[in-house]
Amino acid sequence: MLVLGILGSPKKKSNTAILLNAFLEEARKAGANTRFIDVDSMDIKPCKEYKVCESKGYCPIKDDMEKEIYSLFWEADLIVMATPVFFYSVPAQLKALIDRSQTQWARKYRLKIEDPGRKWRNGFVLSLGATKGANLFDGINLTAKYFYDAVGAVFKGSLEYRRIENPGDIKDHPTALKDAGEKAKELVAPFLKRRKVLFACSENACRSQMAQAFARFNAGDKVEAVCGGDNPAESVNEDMTKVMAEKGIDMHFRKPVSINDIITSNKPDIVVTMGCEVSCPAVPGAQLIEWDLPDPSGKSIEFMRGLRDDIENKVLDLIETL
Ligand SMILES: Cc1cc2nc3c(=O)[nH]c(=O)nc-3n(C[C@H](O)[C@H](O)[C@H](O)COP(=O)(O)O)c2cc1C
Repeated sequence: MLVLGILGSPKKKSNTAILLNAFLEEARKAGANTRFIDVDSMDIKPCKEYKVCESKGYCPIKDDMEKEIYSLFWEADLIVMATPVFFYSVPAQLKALIDRSQTQWARKYRLKIEDPGRKWRNGFVLSLGATKGANLFDGINLTAKYFYDAVGAVFKGSLEYRRIENPGDIKDHPTALKDAGEKAKELVAPFLKRRKVLFACSENACRSQMAQAFARFNAGDKVEAVCGGDNPAESVNEDMTKVMAEKGIDMHFRKPVSINDIITSNKPDIVVTMGCEVSCPAVPGAQLIEWDLPDPSGKSIEFMRGLRDDIENKVLDLIETL
């Protein structure tokens, strides 16, 4: 499983970073993979309200959102946003990332296409501020609730710490770091119980991408579906993205990855090959299933539709057996 940590503080060695690290460390110890985004060190431009996302489903601003962050939202099972209070809200750098998630909002509510992880993904907030007012975290929690709705996560609440002002104050808090670790263990536990299924094909541009998405869409609570290729393409197949969108499934932000990388980070219980000659490293103990599926490259979109439906049926049958 993937836990995505988003650090909102722009300060070096911030209280927020210490708190987020305590959370991510326990998540890793429990067996999760973690990724960390330090928003201040990334190229994330604010939303310019071009509204292209609402009509065409993508943001024309070229920066780290398109390069990396939108696809990390897609991959993550749990997103943890960690932030200090800045004027009862989040720092501007983090607000830029949140505003740019309007692209995901538009894909969901305007284009009506769903990220397949949407039903299962969770979101959590870690926040802290210098003062002690009762409403100190209200602005952040409201913003988080709607951010998580846009990126397709269920908002699971927050841990909030008042009177944290000077560097390192969070370490002197009697429970904060322990609370964050305990919360991480609690939130990752259900995801770590899932069976891990690797869908493998050569380029990871088409067949294995569809299989992973259908498995996640239909049984993301029981199955941790991953996919990879032994010779990953530069990008996923455009016709595949189109025919999956016809089924309401959003593949726009997918990127082909190598099987070796996937196996290193996610040892599968089951490996499903897609009918191509894949040189998949042996995974001791994993069950091997071979599906005889034709290669769609160079074929018509009609062909792709038929292949999509075959893959969906095979995935549904596989889920039944688990
Ligand atoms: C621009 C700015 C605005 C702030 N606004 C608030 C605020 O509205 N309420 C509050 O309690 N603390 C406020 N603070 C204090 C920070 O929340 C506090 O110092 C926090 O510990 C910083 O966390 P960090 O070390 O993780 O960056 C503000 C700090 C800055 C720099």
